Amino acid sequence: MEEAERIKALPPYLFARIDEKIEAAKAKGVDVISLGIGDPDRPTPEHIIKKLAEEAHNPANHRYPSYVGMPVYRQAVSTYYQRRFNVELDPKKEVVALIGSKEGIAHVTWCYLNPGDIALVPDPGYPVYNVGVMLTGAESYRMPILEENGFLPDFDIIPPDVAKRAKLMFLNYPNNPTGGIADAAFYTKAIAFAKKYDIIICHDAAYQEIYFDGYKPISFLEVEGAGDVGIEFGSLSKTYNMTGWRVGWAAGNARVIEALGRIKSNIDSGIFQAVQAAAVEALLGPQECVAEMRQVYRERRDMVIDGLNEMGWNLNKSLATIYIWPRVPKSFTSSSFAELVLEKAGVVITPGNGYGECGEGYFRISLTLPTERLREALERMRLSLGTLEF
Ligand code: MLT
Repeated sequence: MEEAERIKALPPYLFARIDEKIEAAKAKGVDVISLGIGDPDRPTPEHIIKKLAEEAHNPANHRYPSYVGMPVYRQAVSTYYQRRFNVELDPKKEVVALIGSKEGIAHVTWCYLNPGDIALVPDPGYPVYNVGVMLTGAESYRMPILEENGFLPDFDIIPPDVAKRAKLMFLNYPNNPTGGIADAAFYTKAIAFAKKYDIIICHDAAYQEIYFDGYKPISFLEVEGAGDVGIEFGSLSKTYNMTGWRVGWAAGNARVIEALGRIKSNIDSGIFQAVQAAAVEALLGPQECVAEMRQVYRERRDMVIDGLNEMGWNLNKSLATIYIWPRVPKSFTSSSFAELVLEKAGVVITPGNGYGECGEGYFRISLTLPTERLREALERMRLSLGTLEF
């Protein structure tokens, strides 16, 4: 069986590869603690589950859902934007429901990229941006997002011939994997660059509600001109502990939303309506659960950063996301350090090079496991790794 060219170069998904390592270590009897994937350990809040259960009994929900999302769901997304960011969105034209934002990120590339085109992709970055681009036969131009630049890309160093061929640009703040954040001034620069070269901005805002210490992310769509050039991806996964439910959205420029909806209507058949009803409950119902979630991650962030700093790191406390992004100690690569930590401590960390070349020299810790288990992981690292040099 000969695979198609487009899939031959496609690696297994980063976390599928990590799962294999976890399974291999478990098979050897290791009690593995995975700080790998960002997958909330805490349950979906009860009122959301209750809504799903009620709606699952309604036969009207057992039929095909609307391709682009139920009006009530798209309205709820629009209401969320209005309440949280003071952004007005037409739910009919400027919002489309997604089976998780990952799906929309992969599909939007099909709407705008031809073979030979370029998409601007952050490095390090969520692997799906690059893979989506690759599947269309277009090329990714990796924009370094470096620590010394606050994990923001520098548009001035993108060669004009690259910018002229670029059709799409992915941005992601609060950022996975670095925890970096962006302000209005940065988005203004990105919008001016996109307008100059006629580039569509796809802003991935999956971590928009996970913030600490008085910081509160703005939406890309709040910034003047954003709606002319781009869309924002949102997700219920991390905000409401709903990774398994697969529900998110894209919002913003009506032409991009229509194109994304058109491609989706030809490929998938929408989201189970009971899940959409539960998502409405999540977005518009009580929000105390979100404040609690932030509190839990803040405590875990403090514990992990304090623990690593006691081992010799010198990390500042990140203001957003569920990730910690430290450099590896001297004389290690991302992979050799991840291997050492698994071998000595039975702890899985994500090697930074899994997010692109500029992730080399870093590793990622996810805060999405019970606090006690996280504490144990740190303790095992402290006891087993010996003296580390930085
Ligand atoms: C992550 O850990 O980066 C994400 O949760 C993985 C994903 O969304 O597939």
